[in-house]
Amino acid sequence: MKRIKKILIPFVVFLADIFIGKRNLKASGIKIKVNLGCGLRCLPDWINIDASLTALFGSRRFGFINKLLYRLAGSSAYYSFEEFDAIIKKNELHFYDLRKGIPLLAGSADVLYTSHFLEHLNKNDAKKFIKECYRALKPRGILRIVVPDLEAAFKKYKEGKTEEMLDTFFYTSDTYDFHMHKYNYNFQTLKKLLEKTGFVQVKKQNYQKGECPDIDFLDIYPNNSLYVETRK
Ligand SMILES: C[S@@+](CC[C@H](N)C(=O)[O-])C[C@H]1O[C@@H](n2cnc3c(N)ncnc32)[C@H](O)[C@@H]1O
Repeated sequence: MKRIKKILIPFVVFLADIFIGKRNLKASGIKIKVNLGCGLRCLPDWINIDASLTALFGSRRFGFINKLLYRLAGSSAYYSFEEFDAIIKKNELHFYDLRKGIPLLAGSADVLYTSHFLEHLNKNDAKKFIKECYRALKPRGILRIVVPDLEAAFKKYKEGKTEEMLDTFFYTSDTYDFHMHKYNYNFQTLKKLLEKTGFVQVKKQNYQKGECPDIDFLDIYPNNSLYVETRK
């Protein structure tokens, strides 16, 4: 089963992206807030984007499709089926491979939030993604990035917790590509990347603290994470 998933899921995602990957999503609302690589951490008044099977096939009308997805996508480790089904039905999830860019018009977003996603991109794709964040934001718009904190990884290593450190920060998944960590950051390297792209006021923040809206719901990693906010 694992082997089938490893081959089948990336293939389905690849095809779907060619045929139905949406561009320039339109949003209503006073503030345009976008959660990039959202997983299942979605909110109804945000644009929620992910390249997961759930974002691709999740159905607001047909519960049986969600039942199948629940098993395939491995969400049972974190959510009951009722919770999973409710997330799909309450929110609009958009399927998009963010390595291709951000499907928004230039200067259209007030807020971009991305949690535990950047490390799933290789160094070059991450650079492209940060440039895309800059393009998609309105002037003075906020970008909040949450990633595993390399500093915390080395702290664990120094404490002799080598395996725990490797599993948490550098794991290469036995499922498929999108689950793998491909690069890691500390505050200095992330700040450098952001400033090189043109971002200003790069600040280290804390768990559920900062100027980005809804972080009391969106931030779910109290430990081992680096929280950074910046403006265009
Ligand atoms: C560790 S999860 C984080 C989910 C959520 N943001 C959170 O904080 O819990 C990483 C997410 O990134 C998504 N992802 C990985 N590569 C992607 C890509 N190229 N385009 C869009 N989403 C991607 C995965 O599908 C997954 O939902």
